[in-house]
Amino acid sequence: MTTDDSEKDIAVLEKGYQAVLEFIDQMEEISQLQDRVDITGNINQIWNIFLNEIRNSIRMEACALFMVDEQTHEFVLKNASPSSMGIASQSELEHQIECGMFSWIIRRRKPALVPSLALKNNKTIIMLPLVTAKRTLGMVLVVTGIEESAITQENMKLLAMLAKQCSLVMENSLLYDRLKKDHESLQRAQKQILQAEKLASIGRLTTGASHEILNPLNILSGYIQLLAMKEGLDERSTRYLAIMSEQAERISRIVNGLYQFSQTSGASMDRVHVNALIRKVFQLFEHEHRYDHIRNVMDLQEDLPAIDGNADSLTQVMFTLLSNARDAMPRGGELYISTRKALPDASIGADTEWVEIQFRDTGHGIPEDVIDKIFDPFFTTKTLKNGTGLGLSISYGIIQNHGGAIQVKSKVNEGTTVTIRLPCS
Ligand SMILES: Nc1ncnc2c1ncn2[C@@H]1O[C@H](COP(=O)(O)OP(=O)(O)O)[C@@H](O)[C@H]1O
Ligand SMILES: [Mg+2]
Repeated sequence: MTTDDSEKDIAVLEKGYQAVLEFIDQMEEISQLQDRVDITGNINQIWNIFLNEIRNSIRMEACALFMVDEQTHEFVLKNASPSSMGIASQSELEHQIECGMFSWIIRRRKPALVPSLALKNNKTIIMLPLVTAKRTLGMVLVVTGIEESAITQENMKLLAMLAKQCSLVMENSLLYDRLKKDHESLQRAQKQILQAEKLASIGRLTTGASHEILNPLNILSGYIQLLAMKEGLDERSTRYLAIMSEQAERISRIVNGLYQFSQTSGASMDRVHVNALIRKVFQLFEHEHRYDHIRNVMDLQEDLPAIDGNADSLTQVMFTLLSNARDAMPRGGELYISTRKALPDASIGADTEWVEIQFRDTGHGIPEDVIDKIFDPFFTTKTLKNGTGLGLSISYGIIQNHGGAIQVKSKVNEGTTVTIRLPCS
């Protein structure tokens, strides 16, 4: 052996040693990836971090992420890099599924090198299954220009580790999403129970009390009117009487509103055609010159199924929404009213058909700190003369009695959208 030879050997060994160090570094980086990724972010953000790591681990030409759809259980393309690879990756995946390679890799739970079936030019494909102990989350397809024989065990080990980390992070992120959704729907249910309870207690209270108040009130109003007609009253007395009369009217409005709570639950139900009802309400209030500067735009879906409901109560709801929208646009604006058959939705009962009614105005909107209170009885931001704060709370009770739901979304200075869903007959 010459000195030259041993120098060469040392150089080879050194190179190997460097490669091992590099490998360990990469392993370490991948193992710490879990701490670096924010599981509250969306899948795309998470994926971008892993995509970078895959690039560091192997010379890739393209990469595609497929995730299992929770409903259809099919593999759906979520991301392709470069994005032009999307269609090619999709057909590659379909070929792999057809020839059975795909399920073999899922069962094996480890990355595998497969010959490309769809892509030309002798590309090598590495498939990384994203699986956890409980389920299959997806599949990553990595396209490399490297020949199959040049891909090392180290390459595959790094990719396996990456796939494992990626699976864990994505599983956590999906769990986080589901937990968040459950929490939100629980909060919604809680709010509804609270609201229903508030309405019920008011209903109980007012059934008897409203008559007791209205009778003496009518007598008072009568005498106020009589006094007001008297001749020779000084200016101050006239003013006082006017105030008394105004306030008596206000009491009467409130008590009447309260009385309607007790009425909403017992109302009889008939077949109601929502479109016809809306047209009628708008016709009735067409000539209110107070609101001349507001344009009503109607988009009512023909062949809307009928619902079981009480036409009078529903008219009252429409009227409340109409006047609230108009009050929100003192300097004019637009009011869009639309109806449509709503798609089944798990959050409102997937096996029922629904009619959806929407009132969307371009008014001043509702501030965030107020929106939680608008269904509360007596909550109003209007002047004593204009608002009782009962319109929406009565509407809430009516829609609830119809087995439906009412929802308000709003943005200050942009407008408010009220959505009502009612179950079809
Ligand atoms: N379309 C709307 N745009 C802006 N604010 C609204 C709208 N609808 C309701 N609100 C707010 O909700 C409050 C409660 O409405 P409601 O129960 O009908 O009582 P009222 O109209 O008598 O005030 C209103 O005072 C208003 O602040
Ligand atoms: Mg109102």
